Amino acid sequence: MIDFKEQLSVLLKEYIADMDSSEIYSMIEIPPNSAMGDFAFPCFKLAKTLRKAPQMIATELVESIKLPEGFENVKNEGAYLNFFVDRQFYINEVIKEVIELGPKFGSKSTGNGKTICIDYSAPNIAKPFHVGHLRSTVIGNALYRINEFLGYKCVGINHLGDWGTQFGKVIVAYKNWGVKEEIEREPISTLLNLYVKFHDEAEIRPELEDEARGWFVKMEQGAEEALELWRWFSSETIKELKKIYRLLGVTFDYYTGESFYNDKIEGVLSELREKELLKESEGATIIDLEQYSMPPCLVQKKDGSTLYATRDIAAALYRKANFDFDKCIYVTDYSQNLHFSQWFKVIELMGHSWAKDLIHVPFGRVTHEGRRIQTRKGTVVLLEEVLTGAIDRVREIVEEKNPNLNNKEEIAKSVGVGAVIFNDLSNNRIKDISFSWDTAFSFEGETGPYVQYTHARACSVLRKANLEIDIDVNMSLLKDDITLEVIKNIQQFPEVIVDAQRKNEPSIITRHIIDLAQAFNRFYNEHQILVEDQELKKARVLVVATARQVIEIGLNLLGIVAPEEM
Ligand code: ARG
Repeated sequence: MIDFKEQLSVLLKEYIADMDSSEIYSMIEIPPNSAMGDFAFPCFKLAKTLRKAPQMIATELVESIKLPEGFENVKNEGAYLNFFVDRQFYINEVIKEVIELGPKFGSKSTGNGKTICIDYSAPNIAKPFHVGHLRSTVIGNALYRINEFLGYKCVGINHLGDWGTQFGKVIVAYKNWGVKEEIEREPISTLLNLYVKFHDEAEIRPELEDEARGWFVKMEQGAEEALELWRWFSSETIKELKKIYRLLGVTFDYYTGESFYNDKIEGVLSELREKELLKESEGATIIDLEQYSMPPCLVQKKDGSTLYATRDIAAALYRKANFDFDKCIYVTDYSQNLHFSQWFKVIELMGHSWAKDLIHVPFGRVTHEGRRIQTRKGTVVLLEEVLTGAIDRVREIVEEKNPNLNNKEEIAKSVGVGAVIFNDLSNNRIKDISFSWDTAFSFEGETGPYVQYTHARACSVLRKANLEIDIDVNMSLLKDDITLEVIKNIQQFPEVIVDAQRKNEPSIITRHIIDLAQAFNRFYNEHQILVEDQELKKARVLVVATARQVIEIGLNLLGIVAPEEM
């Protein structure tokens, strides 16, 4: 497909000598509707160098410009140049590209030879996997898919919270109130209950806190009894987590949790010492960051135990040495902003120039019915509950609307899970989201089920048409405004993927495929597709096949299944 914006920027460059074509390229806009042109160029910025009013510049340019291939007309409106594509040419270019490339439409080789590590999900063992971790999981998974689509080699890492003082607490709780079979049956919620119980009891008997700290110190010193319990808690939890990931369709290349770095900590501490970055403070070991207006980064407690940040520093050094990443991305909620700024700074102070390639991708908090999700008090929505609840709801709807469907269970699963993922990826990631059962699973409006249904509808038209997809159709039959809107959305899609990758913002893709689904449904409602006229039928079916393909690509990039029936 020719790059229409590129064509225009090359052309405009001839008339605007003192701006380079990449700058011109970035200034080209897409007007909100085709009546104002398909592409527009604002002349404001030229006023200064050309010493003329922008409107005048636009008027003069319109007179002199010789349009490149693919364009039919240019008009000026105020300070804007509005370009109109040659619709038949344009539609042909876009459709041909989609049909030729199929599921690869929009993919690129930009990232070839480069590696991106993505650290996502990372729930804490013996604490719940809640909707906050769900956000990290689905955002990270989408970023993985998007980057991979653009040619990067991705390394997905689950930095499980499998080390830390919480284990001391759970060990104390288990020894007092635990039941082995319960942990084997439902490890995640049983361990959470023990954790919650510990906090309730410790309010009355504060000495339990010391006991718990003692157990964690034992773990760090390698005491077998403590480690054995820890290993068991971890392995039972991971087994359960993997079930949830399977349901979500999420995979990781590595399950290297915090404990994986235990034997690498000594090396990190000595490197820090050698580089004279360490300081004593009330018995603890810190790195002073006052100069950078940040509180100190604590790397070792008084009792010798290490911290979350220590393990993150060790992990980053390990990843750089083993994967030689171009970027290492961390997906967590924004409450960890300071944590990441602190230890990224430490890596920089250690003299590692790649500190600039460590990127924190923060996202908003999830509240549930207006309240913050908190572990200790137990006000959590367990992810499993959310997912099975979603699937149940979809099953009911399917049962009601389409009881004769084959594989209803499979569909309930992909639509229920898809709804949860889509809901999560609908808004700018930094926005706080309030989780509510009603909006997450709505089948109307800008939701996952709506887009998935649009895909299924397109599949159904294609099944009924039962035609060989052939790009040799009379494209002049597709020049109407409604069809053009569908094609324009598709033409922009490759650029949308690049933008989402650059900003680490999957919601850019979500928004775009909602628009595509809406444009497609207008096309579907306004035009009969399976008409008598064979030529027209072939042309419209081709539009359906094209849109279907792009919706599927979009859903897949978000980590959502595109069902053929529902
Ligand atoms: N386990 C942490 C939490 O639940 C998230 C870990 C994020 N990754 C990292 N390398 N720090 O808050």
